[in-house]
Order: sequence, then C-alpha cells, then structure tokens
Amino acid sequence: MSFEGKKIVVLGGSSGIGLAIAKAAGREGAKLVVASSNQARVNEALKRLPPGTEGQAVDLGNEAAIAALFAQIGPFDHLAYTAADKLQLNRLADTDLATARKFYELRYWGALAAVKYASPNIRPGGSIVLTSGLAGLRPHAGWALGASVCGAVEGLTRALAVELAPIRVNAVAPGVVVSPLWDDMTAVDRTTLYRQTAERLLVRHVGETEEVAEAYLYLMRQTYSTGTVLRVDGGGALV
Ligand SMILES: NC(=O)c1ccc[n+]([C@@H]2O[C@H](COP(=O)([O-])OP(=O)(O)OC[C@H]3O[C@@H](n4cnc5c(N)ncnc54)[C@H](OP(=O)(O)O)[C@@H]3O)[C@@H](O)[C@H]2O)c1
Repeated sequence: MSFEGKKIVVLGGSSGIGLAIAKAAGREGAKLVVASSNQARVNEALKRLPPGTEGQAVDLGNEAAIAALFAQIGPFDHLAYTAADKLQLNRLADTDLATARKFYELRYWGALAAVKYASPNIRPGGSIVLTSGLAGLRPHAGWALGASVCGAVEGLTRALAVELAPIRVNAVAPGVVVSPLWDDMTAVDRTTLYRQTAERLLVRHVGETEEVAEAYLYLMRQTYSTGTVLRVDGGGALV
C-alpha cells in the first residue's frame, strides 16, 4: 500500500479523472480529501470512496474559498488538481473575449491559487500534480482556448517546480478520455468522437479515467521527477 499514511487532496475529485485518482489512491491506503463545487456530486463521490474520505463543496474559482479550504485541511502530502468546467470549442471569429477569459478561471487561475495556498501545508517528500492536455501540443481548429490554457499550465508547472523546490510539481497531459467532460455533446456526437479517436490512436482504444489516474499516482509516488509534463494519450501525439 504505497500511500499508507499519506494524505492526498484531489480538487475536482467528484468526477472523471479526479474521482479515478481518488479511488486508486484510496485502494493504496491514502487518506483522501475530495473537493468540487457541487455538494450533491461530492456526496455521490463519497459513496464510491473509502470510509473516512472527506468531501468539501468549494468553488475553486474563489480565492478566499481556496484559502479557507487549505487552512482547514492542514498538513498533507500530495495535491492533484483536475477541476475544470466544460470545454469552449469555437473558431476564433466566433469567440467572445469575456467568455474566453473565464475559460482560464478554473483550469489556470484555480490551479495557481490552489498551489499558492496548498504548498505551505505540503509535508516533506510531497508533490503537486496539475492537469494539461494533448490539445496543447496537437490542437484542432476551434481549440485556441483549450490549447493555450494547456500551454499556460505547462509553463506554470515548470516555474513552480523551480520556485517551490523541493516540493515536486508536475503535470499530466491526457488525450481524449471517456468522462463527463464531454457530456455537453449529443450522445451521437460523443459516441462518434470516442469511436473515431479509438480508430486513430496507436493503442486502438479511447482513454479511460483509470488509465490516466495511474499517471498522477506515478508522479506522486516516485521521487525524481519535477517540472515534467507526462503525456498519457494512447499515442495521440504521433498520429
Ligand atoms: N476528459 C478528457 O478527455 C480530457 C482530456 C484532456 C484533458 N482533460 C482535462 O482533465 C481535467 C479533468 O477533466 P475530467 O474529464 O475529469 O472532467 P470532469 O469529469 O468534468 O471533472 C471536472 C471536475 O471539476 C469540478 N468542478 C467544476 N467546476 C468547479 C468549480 N467551480 N469549483 C470546483 N470544482 C469544479 C467538477 O465537479 P462539480 O461539478 O461538482 O464542481 C468535477 O469534479 C480538465 O482540466 C480537462 O480539461 C480531460
């Protein structure tokens, strides 16, 4: 049980990749805190996580709420940040700038604020794992925001690895993963996305949250990587 005696905080832990991280870390003995904005979703997640897991409803777009969360949590070992709202996929000509700026609120500013208030509480040997995405490297048309926020998170990861050392700071860049992130699409469009992705990828299947969660656990568990972006994309960068 490699996380026995360790406390792990998963921001965005009520769903998708974050929930898979919490489940996997829980199986390896971690004490868990999961947080997201919706109390009902947090409660649902708690039913699927080990007894004793703490759940918090926190708007990670709110700096004061993030500060209060970490003041309450106190010392812990590893932070995973996967919180995000829905994707904004628009051609530039159709992009409203006020809405576009908001796209950075959770994925970038929320992550930065979380690290600001979490890092003083991280015990020796601890780490932070942020979330980027393959779109930063291989964007399609319409992905200007999705791609650029990945670039911002990856730059932030390297800068914080330098500044916060010896706390290790890394990021995971998933390719397409089956998760509620895509729930805004029609069922037909979503099925088509997953099928076409699976056909194109070298591994011949679309990612599952459990496969991506392994990368977060790896970056927490090992002791020599920092400032790294670990791509988990089924070979998507190569096709
Ligand atoms: N799924 C993919 O294919 C994929 C691919 C590449 C990168 N990624 C990235 O991976 C990350 C996680 O994606 P996912 O697939 O796990 O998405 P997801 O299933 O939609 O999970 C997003 C999480 O963020 C939480 N959240 C949303 N608004 C929040 C707020 N204001 N405050 C706090 N928490 C909030 C959600 O819970 P509540 O609704 O309860 O707040 C949920 O727990 C995202 O950054 C995404 O862009 C995903």
